[in-house]
Amino acid sequence: MIKKYHPVYQSEYEQWISQHKKEIEEVNSDPRRLHYHLMPRIGWLNDPNGLCQYHGVYHIYYQYDPFDINGELKLWQHVTTKDFIHYEEHGPFLFPDSEIDTHGAYSGSAFVKDDQIHFFYTGNIKLFDKEDYDYIHCGRVANTIHLVSKDGFHFDQKQLVMGMSDYPQGFTQHIRDPKLIEENDMIYMVQGTRDLKDQGALLIFASKDLKHWQFHSCLHSEEPIGYMWECPDLFDLQGQKLLITCPQGVETQGVDYANVHSCTWMQIDGTIADGLSIKKIHQLDRGFDFYAPQTFEDEQGRRILIGWMGIPDADYTNPTAKDGWQHALTLPRLLTWKDGMLYQQPLPELQQLRKEHDECNEDTLNAMSYAEECYEMAIHADSCNQMKLQLSDEMIITYQDHLFTLDITACGSGRTTRSVYLDTLKNIRVFSDTTSLEIFINDGSEVFTTRIYPTQPRCVKLYTENKNTVIHLYSLSAHQIN
Ligand code: FRU
Repeated sequence: MIKKYHPVYQSEYEQWISQHKKEIEEVNSDPRRLHYHLMPRIGWLNDPNGLCQYHGVYHIYYQYDPFDINGELKLWQHVTTKDFIHYEEHGPFLFPDSEIDTHGAYSGSAFVKDDQIHFFYTGNIKLFDKEDYDYIHCGRVANTIHLVSKDGFHFDQKQLVMGMSDYPQGFTQHIRDPKLIEENDMIYMVQGTRDLKDQGALLIFASKDLKHWQFHSCLHSEEPIGYMWECPDLFDLQGQKLLITCPQGVETQGVDYANVHSCTWMQIDGTIADGLSIKKIHQLDRGFDFYAPQTFEDEQGRRILIGWMGIPDADYTNPTAKDGWQHALTLPRLLTWKDGMLYQQPLPELQQLRKEHDECNEDTLNAMSYAEECYEMAIHADSCNQMKLQLSDEMIITYQDHLFTLDITACGSGRTTRSVYLDTLKNIRVFSDTTSLEIFINDGSEVFTTRIYPTQPRCVKLYTENKNTVIHLYSLSAHQIN
């Protein structure tokens, strides 16, 4: 029996999987399975971890709990690909099987250096020896653990590089999710934290050899944003330093920060050595299901982001949970920085999924019916003032008085509407899968990622006063996974 708060060994996992073949087959035959997104074979998925490209192969790991639909235990599942179209799923890479990570191999990242992959992650331990632990200020251990791998499949020993006594004073025991960045021959590690005033912050540690780490500095926002920053990722993009992080519990402000927890990008001034400051904060995604993204630079120098298409603590649900699985990863997205804005677009590799192509405008579109579930749609709206786009009777996008709104109340399993104010609407790209939508607006400066659970057939209907609108529709095939 696999139990919560006990170590999980590879042999137990293998035995469990061999005893649950029938359940795995049932999950696999669920019509709500996605066609071109990564999902758990069974059970629960959350954050992407350890993203890297090594000797041409992309390695994608993620937080995985095959045993439990609510994700109580955390393993690192492992998937590889060379082209983001053909994937191979391997067994889990990392189990919470040692005394330094007994209650969860929590999130972490990869850092390729001198032809080796260095993984850093949080080994989570919950203490049970006293009854009055609040698990914020006491009762938790968050170990920073280092692994070295020469292939992405095997590693030597789990090495504890920092424990609770190595972290600075002034913070709660919520310290986790290490990610590395190099600056002028120094290697820095960022970790997310909640301070003693219940404000989210970034802790920065420094090392020359990846083994010995010292606290370097802490970065706060001027006005508090959220009580805890999860999954921080500090990186350089086209000469600009950016921090992506997930502030938990940011209060809703108008149409902004509408989810229980948020995900933001921050434009950062300065250098780590001399001090950083936050210049601008922007929501990374405005949909219902987006959290804990991670970026990496591939061998072509592209900055690629993958997120968790899910969110913790939401009051809306995934009906698939009743049938043994929930959550997925987003499409891999290419990041670019231009004129003070971060843009996200699905990787160009995904064009290989395109099948049939239709080009239409509002009039010809309404004469044809479009019932595909899996498609890519590009709308060139050319500074449109008003638009209504229906993806089915249950999924409606409107744009009026600068407000762009997605309404999926009728098929959202508790999800309702999400909005953003735009100066102008220039273009929209929609990636629709069986039970997900990713909507990229204005070249990807705003994105809405959400799960959907449609009960009505799909359609594409567009109403706009703008006569120059052109629509490209591509039906999409499934990716392949072995
Ligand atoms: C974010 C998160 C991380 C943590 C992991 C545990 O979703 O809470 O902070 O490391 O999930 O699965």
